[in-house]
Amino acid sequence: MTRDPRYDILFEPVEIGPVTAPNRFFQVPHCNGGGYRDPSAAAEMRRVKAEGGWGVVFTEQVEMHHTSEITPFIELRLWDDRDIPMLARMADSIHEHDALAGIELAYSGVNGPNLYTREVPMGPTAGPILTFTSDPVQARAMDKGDIRDLRRWYRNSFRRSKQAAYDLICLYGAHGFGIIQHFLSRKTNHRTDEYGGSLENRCRLMRELIEDAKDEVGDACGISVRLSLDEMAGEHGFSNAELRDCIEMNADVPDLWDLAHGAWEDCSATSRFKDEGAQEGLVTGIKALTSKPVVGVGRFTSPDAMVRQVRSGILDFIGAARPSIADPFLPKKIDEGRVDDIRECIGCNICVTGDMTMSLSRCTQNPSFMEEWRKGWHPETVRSKGDSESVLVIGAGPAGLEATRALGLRGYKVALAEAGTELGGRVARECRLPGLSAWGRVRDYREGQIRKMPNVDIYFDSQLTADDVLAFGFENVAIATGATWRRDGVARFHQHGIEIDEVMPVFTPDDLMAGKLPTGKVVLYDDDHFYMGGVLAELLVQHGCAVSLVTPASEVSQWTNNTLEQAVIQAKLIDMGVDIHVTRAVSAVARDHVTLQCTYSGRESTLEADALVLVTSRTGNDLIWTEMKAREADWAEAGIKSVRIIGDAEAPAPIAWATYAGRRFAEELDAPQGDPDALPFKREIAELATVS
Ligand SMILES: Cc1cc2nc3c(=O)[nH]c(=O)nc-3n(C[C@H](O)[C@H](O)[C@H](O)COP(=O)(O)O)c2cc1C
Ligand code: SF4
Repeated sequence: MTRDPRYDILFEPVEIGPVTAPNRFFQVPHCNGGGYRDPSAAAEMRRVKAEGGWGVVFTEQVEMHHTSEITPFIELRLWDDRDIPMLARMADSIHEHDALAGIELAYSGVNGPNLYTREVPMGPTAGPILTFTSDPVQARAMDKGDIRDLRRWYRNSFRRSKQAAYDLICLYGAHGFGIIQHFLSRKTNHRTDEYGGSLENRCRLMRELIEDAKDEVGDACGISVRLSLDEMAGEHGFSNAELRDCIEMNADVPDLWDLAHGAWEDCSATSRFKDEGAQEGLVTGIKALTSKPVVGVGRFTSPDAMVRQVRSGILDFIGAARPSIADPFLPKKIDEGRVDDIRECIGCNICVTGDMTMSLSRCTQNPSFMEEWRKGWHPETVRSKGDSESVLVIGAGPAGLEATRALGLRGYKVALAEAGTELGGRVARECRLPGLSAWGRVRDYREGQIRKMPNVDIYFDSQLTADDVLAFGFENVAIATGATWRRDGVARFHQHGIEIDEVMPVFTPDDLMAGKLPTGKVVLYDDDHFYMGGVLAELLVQHGCAVSLVTPASEVSQWTNNTLEQAVIQAKLIDMGVDIHVTRAVSAVARDHVTLQCTYSGRESTLEADALVLVTSRTGNDLIWTEMKAREADWAEAGIKSVRIIGDAEAPAPIAWATYAGRRFAEELDAPQGDPDALPFKREIAELATVS
């Protein structure tokens, strides 16, 4: 297939100072939970993006000097020459496919607590370190000597970046994370010398650093600066109006303006709270202030939306972090006229949780993300078929669908048996909840792929038993039958359930998703702590219920701190009139009220209730698995080589775990049997220093 000429404009080369990007697809910096601990995994992930057609591929933020680091978060480092090979490996990987390699240099200033290096942090003004973890550390104010030092350290990092073969160097000053922003903003810059006060003075450090970069490496590298469109920090914050003045004042100083937004929470907002292209109003008109190219972001997955940004003169480059994670081959698919094959980001921010939990990042839509090197997985291709011919996949939720897609691609004859009448399992149900419609893309992408495969058959209304499975004669069976929300209160606080009066109507998320909704005064007890409790509170308010949300945690939907949503969720529920009770567990349920127990003091109180919604834990639907295990002796005669239980049916978890389990099943089917005790992935181990 060939490219739709409407999209030609996206494939035009664009100059950035001394270098030229081959197209307008610009992978903006994003971390991956691997950083300096997993450099080869990160390098291979970036290579695959370049292979998929991204014209510019950036690193994540790179700590450019040891006096400012953000432990416990794991990013890349450029502290001395010994870090160059690690960074060069990434640049070389990106260059394999002729993309430009970009490095984002970060000096974290008032965002760097220096927990590892134990250096005293520095910022424009003395004050507390502003991390969301409220590290009990303050920064000291920089004097002129410190600013001279900082400029020298930056020069060293520019030189090292060039040595590592980067084409683009970005100075990080966005999201409240980079020192350039700390100088630009009146919130963090209270100085009275030539680096504080007027906007011109607050821009001085940025300008000097860019000029130093051009002087040091400007012959070979394009120099950009990444700023927030609006700091979103109230009256003293660096506003959109000030940003525009700053760009006008320094119009042609950098080779490119990279425009992110607000705090990270604002910039990487989830689809629950922001649509594609949400920053358009804040970025429109900025291009007219400079002759240099402008890149902006907005979870862009639609080529039409991208073309509109360019044609209407809003952006020169389509910046993307999450869309490039969900589909590293997005540009190539547009180029090859395969727009329907794009695996669109669902805006769930599971990728962010990898950074927040210092683990390797995952992606709900792209299970190969960060497994490219560790396991050799690729977002588009899989190994060809092994010895066996056929597979029965039971259950068409995210695990079953992904297993089916990848097995189909491998060339197996696959039968997908679904007990219900639609594909998607939990995503089909959850995407009907308030704010979660984009999650349906997990099903839509896989359904689109599977329907094209002549070797895959789908059977609905197929509530199978072990007898059926044994009679069918498939060689391999994957049981992906999902999970059911519990009705007894068992979760983290109560491991043995709650005493519940049988008169009290009790509902679970499954009931609500099936359209069975309570009325009147509803107590929603959330001992799950991810999105479901908050989403259902919204649903119940929309339905006219008076909702009290009770949780043993200290915040609503606590784990959504890792998806950058917690503050917005709690604010929204407060606005909607939800009565919130934190650090309280439901300890008993009577016919017309529930008893709450303070998780600290154990003191009890009561709440009137007409109904109780329990968002607690789930039980895997493992009936067929148990039946099949009990009849293992019959497998060989039935021609069955393997039976596996995968996804939520095995152990309930977020959707990303299910798509991963589906992919893993498909990847490992018919794999040569190695040492069963060996590590199932590659890893890097720190080289031991010589003992002196
Ligand atoms: C997992 C993840 C990590 C990120 N890490 C960085 C980073 O290291 N530096 C940075 O400037 N922005 C970072 N961002 C923000 C992105 O560059 C981008 O501005 C934002 O996600 C909006 O773009 P998108 O809608 O295309 O994802 C990160 C975003 C994500 C999702
Ligand atoms: S994890 Fe979710 S938000 Fe992140 S890239 Fe994947 S689909 Fe998009």
